[in-house]
Amino acid sequence: MDLNGKTLVLTGANGGLGQAIARELAAAGARLVLIGIGQVVLDDLARELGNGKSHHCPMDLDLSREQGIDELVQFCEELPNGIDGLINSAGLNRFAIAEDHDYQATSRLFMVNLVAPVMLSARLLPLLKTRKEALIVNIGSVLGAIGNPGYSAYCASKSGLARFSETLRRELADSPVKVLHFNPRVVRTGMNSAAVNSLNEKLGNKSDAPEQVASLLIRQLQEDRFGEYCVGWPEKLFVKINALFPGLVDRNFSKNLKLIKTAAREESEFIQARAVEKPAN
Ligand SMILES: NC(=O)c1ccc[n+]([C@@H]2O[C@H](COP(=O)([O-])OP(=O)(O)OC[C@H]3O[C@@H](n4cnc5c(N)ncnc54)[C@H](OP(=O)(O)O)[C@@H]3O)[C@@H](O)[C@H]2O)c1
Repeated sequence: MDLNGKTLVLTGANGGLGQAIARELAAAGARLVLIGIGQVVLDDLARELGNGKSHHCPMDLDLSREQGIDELVQFCEELPNGIDGLINSAGLNRFAIAEDHDYQATSRLFMVNLVAPVMLSARLLPLLKTRKEALIVNIGSVLGAIGNPGYSAYCASKSGLARFSETLRRELADSPVKVLHFNPRVVRTGMNSAAVNSLNEKLGNKSDAPEQVASLLIRQLQEDRFGEYCVGWPEKLFVKINALFPGLVDRNFSKNLKLIKTAAREESEFIQARAVEKPAN
């Protein structure tokens, strides 16, 4: 797909991976609607990408709320030239054992990781279907294909997103809208806390720079390779082994369970202590 001149909505645009994706898309000639929380960072990004000219549109919206979705949809409907694609990169993670999940953080995580992509797709599809060619990209995770202890809610949300992408791709087979579900392994961004980085290192989990991941994503789009894509080897193989022989993977995780649970508990205690110090408004 030629991205030059396409107008694309990118959520999570001010995130570690989102910024790298934004730079690649802008370099390929796309015009971007940049969605995130924090107008100043988004304005700076839009200026940098536009190289002094105003090709890109930054919007500070909370996608965990219906109002955020409504505002974005209304903005797209009023764009004189419409939109050609939606890239859902906004996401939240929570490293905690199952019994340490609380209602507020968990519902917010599901809203951002799953409900927002589903509702944005639903509401923007009427616009996308009017184009000669259009795209929807959902940024999933290898953790959407392999349940990792310490990430039950995150894995559930990304697994749900993967089935959503699969269904959408099949439902839209007779339309101009192509769907890509893109699963990174660990990416070196602010999403992962120091505790998570340290655990990943001890477990030998491989990680990628956001620029590498963004460039893989853009290549998939430019080479018209839609469907599902998983970043990294041996992660591609682990996903297949997990699907065929889950007992093998259970045993492998059992070996590291004590280490993972200790790190997750420490992370929850740290988050709780910080919440007491700085209560949310
Ligand atoms: N990092 C990894 O290891 C990794 C691995 C696999 C998959 N992924 C996936 O890759 C995607 C990008 O993650 P990242 O690494 O770039 O994480 P990140 O740096 O934490 O960025 C996440 C982005 O989501 C936005 N966001 C969070 N809550 C939002 C809300 N309520 N409304 C609107 N925007 C919201 C954030 O905005 P603010 O910063 O303004 O809050 C930020 O732009 C996510 O879907 C993530 O699950 C990441």
